[in-house]
Amino acid sequence: MSDIKNIRDQFLSKLKNELSLDEINSIKTELFGKNGQISSLFKTVGSIPESDRKTFAADLNKIKDELQSLISEKIKEIETKEVNQKLEKEKVDITLPERPFVRGKIHPVSQTIDEISSIFSEIGFSVEEGPDVENEYNNFTALNTPDNHPARDMHDTFYLDENKEVLLRTHTSPVQIRTMLKDKPPFKIIAPGRTYRSDSDQTHAPMFHQVEGLHIDKDINMGHLKGCLNYFIKEFFEVEKIKMRFRPSHFPFTEPSAEVDIGYEIRDGKIVIGEGDQWLEILGCGMVHPNVLKNVKVDPAKYQGYAFGIGIDRLAMLKYGINDLRAFFDCDYRWLNHFGFDPLDVPTNYRGLSR
Ligand code: DAH
Repeated sequence: MSDIKNIRDQFLSKLKNELSLDEINSIKTELFGKNGQISSLFKTVGSIPESDRKTFAADLNKIKDELQSLISEKIKEIETKEVNQKLEKEKVDITLPERPFVRGKIHPVSQTIDEISSIFSEIGFSVEEGPDVENEYNNFTALNTPDNHPARDMHDTFYLDENKEVLLRTHTSPVQIRTMLKDKPPFKIIAPGRTYRSDSDQTHAPMFHQVEGLHIDKDINMGHLKGCLNYFIKEFFEVEKIKMRFRPSHFPFTEPSAEVDIGYEIRDGKIVIGEGDQWLEILGCGMVHPNVLKNVKVDPAKYQGYAFGIGIDRLAMLKYGINDLRAFFDCDYRWLNHFGFDPLDVPTNYRGLSR
């Protein structure tokens, strides 16, 4: 018993010291290793006189448990301390930016759409939207373009089903139909968005952008159309005066119909809008055909108005000096960085559109 007590006292005092993991492990071997002091005492149990054996074994077990749990505790303590020291040393300063902060740019087409919306909102137009996947009725039939009408072939339509009932809209004009079907006149809306035709070269992309305009009320005539477009073109190109020419044309959904050209000249290799004697076609328009109004349950005897469709990409190219339409859809970051706009500088009429 005195042996056991001695070992206990001796090791309890050893374990009180500040110890390293290696030191603890060697204490562990000293006690419980193959020839360790406790292990050796266990080997003597058989030779202890029978009368004392039970108490001896019980004492030995008690001390073994006591020392073992003390050692485990110490090991845990040291390990926690080491992990904490390591964490302290390896701290990452997450407040440091990885790279200098670069702000993204607004694509010139988005910028142009924002500018157009801002200009028309100043004279009371609201913005409507329609889906890119449209039905045949809204895209053609309701717009007075029945089956086998030649205008259907001209549109190079992407059909999405065999029956040719679902398609990618070929123009933004179906938004006229959607708007008039869901509300009552008067209507004064624009509808910018994506349009699709199976056509691709330097001046045509299979996906492009248009903005539709529609103004229906009781006494709307072609003079209003002219005034509205005149205002829009001046505001958009940020010029005092423009030259504008209405050329008779044909669209199934308007009567009469016209295409509008604007005058320009090339000066020092740059296009100047509003001067010179060259003409550039920028939009189609006309007075909404009575058949279209009937199709959306608007009485053509009471209401009439005008509509127009403008190619947005063409306008953006003109205003911002971009000469290949395909660059819009290349996703070239360098190009976007050069031609893109500051996202925090939202275009407004009073603060300036594109500065
Ligand atoms: N939807 C026509 C097109 O894509 C453009 C157009 C012409 C729209 C005359 C109109 C309009 O609203 O009145 O070619």
